[in-house]
Amino acid sequence: MRFSSLVERVAGRGSGAWAVHHEAVRRRAEGQDVVLLTVGDPDLPPPPAVLAAAADAIGRRQTGYSPIVGYPEVRAAIAERHARRAGVPCTADNVVVVPGAQAGLYCAMQCLAGPGDEVLAMEPLYATYQAVAGAAGATLATVPLRPERGFHPDLDELERAVTPRTRVLWVNSPHNPTGAVLDRGEMERICDIARRHDLWVLSDEVYQDLAYARPHLGPGALPGMAERTVTVSSISKSHALPGFRFGWIVGPAELARHLFNLMLCMLYGGPPFVQRAAIVALGNEFPEVEAMREAYLRRARLFVRAVSRAPGCRAAEPEGGMFVLLDVRGTGLGAEAFARRLLDREGVATLPADAFGPSAEGHLRVSLAAEDAVLADAAERIVRTAETLAREG
Ligand SMILES: Cc1ncc(COP(=O)(O)O)c(C=O)c1O
Repeated sequence: MRFSSLVERVAGRGSGAWAVHHEAVRRRAEGQDVVLLTVGDPDLPPPPAVLAAAADAIGRRQTGYSPIVGYPEVRAAIAERHARRAGVPCTADNVVVVPGAQAGLYCAMQCLAGPGDEVLAMEPLYATYQAVAGAAGATLATVPLRPERGFHPDLDELERAVTPRTRVLWVNSPHNPTGAVLDRGEMERICDIARRHDLWVLSDEVYQDLAYARPHLGPGALPGMAERTVTVSSISKSHALPGFRFGWIVGPAELARHLFNLMLCMLYGGPPFVQRAAIVALGNEFPEVEAMREAYLRRARLFVRAVSRAPGCRAAEPEGGMFVLLDVRGTGLGAEAFARRLLDREGVATLPADAFGPSAEGHLRVSLAAEDAVLADAAERIVRTAETLAREG
């Protein structure tokens, strides 16, 4: 039987780099002692009040259908939060609720770009971006984020990459996998490019609560940008609730109306008890959220310091997010070979970061979703691996 061309367009690039992760998961399932530092699944506990709100809503049988783009109360809570943080007007009419930021990126892209259009992003980039653009029928073009610039963009190069077919500039700050947080000057420049070339800015802000080096600033906060900015975020990382699949899109009201139509035929609303819990999550400032931010930063510092003794390896403190990039180029091994050796000899699984794009070649992405002691021990094992490699010459 034949399938539509969509099946090709959503197929991943099949990077070999994920093989290390899959092997580690397999070994773990067999009962082997493997430290998994590959994925960004938060290990810290979510705020109990949010869990209680979900349980309470289930207890009250809030299990029926819900409005297609979310309850007005939850959309109002998101709008109020966005307005407060970005310092711009925002109402429930600008907000739609989606099952996680991933679905938000997918739904937004379906409405922003199509066949013949180009989407411009920076690589390394989050693993799903290629397929999200492809599913819409658009082509993903990338400019490199180079290690020697701390993985911050060369904005002249970004502007040179804009073509008459470019429709969307895709930004992600704090950035996965590099941890870079764009500064105000960079964001202003990106918005200026978008205005002059009449582009949408699609802003993936899933790590917005995990900015360390400088405060998070989204494009939607800058003057004249509300009409062309689409902000996507979720409670997956901020509240350690990826399993709730609760995210949102903030954008022009006209976009929200198009999203209603898309979501009507695609999702038909989300779980009401999750939305009830989200009202609690977004309507309060929980100490747990701040504690998570502090924990990831503490772990990043601890890991970077501990791993600094590894010959041929370098790691910089991330500016945001929940990963550290470890540069292993000085060890003489490529990232995948190093990651395999680390898994085989020391039982530590990390992700070769070139899975996210060639500019991260020679780097490993290390997830900080593990306790301090686990990360310290993993760093020791990395040091041992690098020392052995140095002795072997
Ligand atoms: C950059 C980036 N965007 C989007 C997502 C998806 O987040 P969500 O769980 O809200 O769908 C992730 C998840 O790790 C991510 O790292």
